[in-house]
Amino acid sequence: MNLFDVYKLWPIEPVKGEGCTIYDRDGVEYLDMYGGHAVISIGHSHPYYTGMIKDQLNNLAFYSNSVQNPLQRKLAYDLGKMCGYEEYSLFLSNSGAEANENAIKLASFHTGKSKVLAFKGSFHGRTSGAVAVTDNPLLSSPFNSSRKVKFVALGDLEAVKREFSSGEYAAVIIEGIQGVAGIVDPGNLFLKELKKIAKKSGVVLIIDEVQSGYGRTGKFFAHQYSGVKADIVTVAKGMANGFPIGGTIISPSFTAISGMLGTTFGGNHLACAAAIAVLDVIRDEELVMMAYEKGKYLLDKLGSLKKRLGNGVITEIRGKGLMIGIEMDEGFIPVRNALLFEEKIFTGGAKSNIIRLLPPLTISREQLDHFLVSFENAIEKHKTRVGS
Ligand SMILES: Cc1ncc(COP(=O)(O)O)c(C=O)c1O
Repeated sequence: MNLFDVYKLWPIEPVKGEGCTIYDRDGVEYLDMYGGHAVISIGHSHPYYTGMIKDQLNNLAFYSNSVQNPLQRKLAYDLGKMCGYEEYSLFLSNSGAEANENAIKLASFHTGKSKVLAFKGSFHGRTSGAVAVTDNPLLSSPFNSSRKVKFVALGDLEAVKREFSSGEYAAVIIEGIQGVAGIVDPGNLFLKELKKIAKKSGVVLIIDEVQSGYGRTGKFFAHQYSGVKADIVTVAKGMANGFPIGGTIISPSFTAISGMLGTTFGGNHLACAAAIAVLDVIRDEELVMMAYEKGKYLLDKLGSLKKRLGNGVITEIRGKGLMIGIEMDEGFIPVRNALLFEEKIFTGGAKSNIIRLLPPLTISREQLDHFLVSFENAIEKHKTRVGS
């Protein structure tokens, strides 16, 4: 049997990870400035994390959700304490898409309504409901395309008000910071107003922190810069440092009814052990503050580099903490390949001309300096090649 060929693959085979370093099968070392799509929060193969998973594996890897599982309760307790949503409750699943799917379903159960408002540029996952609120027609099959979803421009409060005035909306879903769109921040003011309008209209505010959450932006959740509290927050990616898990964090105003949500694998013992280990490391190594400080350092340095390079190379730098988008002039698109194949640094991309930086929160200043020198090298080499 062959693999169903849907991924564009780099010709690189990583076999080992340690901290922010990845080694390929030939022993070549790469700096990880991408965390495998923002997933690696506490660094590869963190010894505390691998130890917790091994211990759990030796005891019990899985049993169904029909028995007592104190690990789930501990995870909910620890997460509530650390993320500032202590009075909320947690439903565990296996991915970001599922976390969003459950959030939308709950909002619809709760309000008895079926329409959802989403924003241009959004990405919320690939399952039916999640892809329906994702602004990319290439990802939606006719089955997924729904007249129950409306997209409006990020920041357009008038459009939000106009839509909500129909009284048909169950929910509005928004990313803490849009990731796949190229690191686009909705802004504190917009989030505050959105919350006000949603509350007044009886619409559930779902904030998707799948990519921007878990300390990445220098606060536990990106939306916490605005002081806004969501009705539902969704998490995944960094939550278990690569072990598949998703979480839907639900306001006390929602009533749980037996059977309204459910899953076979969600909240299994191994996943909970991995997620508890991640929270322990984030707390003990003060990784939220680290993300803030390292991010500020990197953003400052990138700002200076942008100035030094002059117009027409870096056009914009966006983001918070260690969630950074570097928009390049179209002529500099090959720089990302040069970073990977010549400088041996993994970065992410968005659209055709945005470099996304989502490194593990444990990255050191020396590693950031190494990235900055390599990035400038890659740009200069490219300039020489094209003779600009
Ligand atoms: C903001 C956001 N929401 C949801 C998802 C979907 O997560 P998953 O791929 O775990 O289903 C992603 C994945 O990139 C994401 O960035």
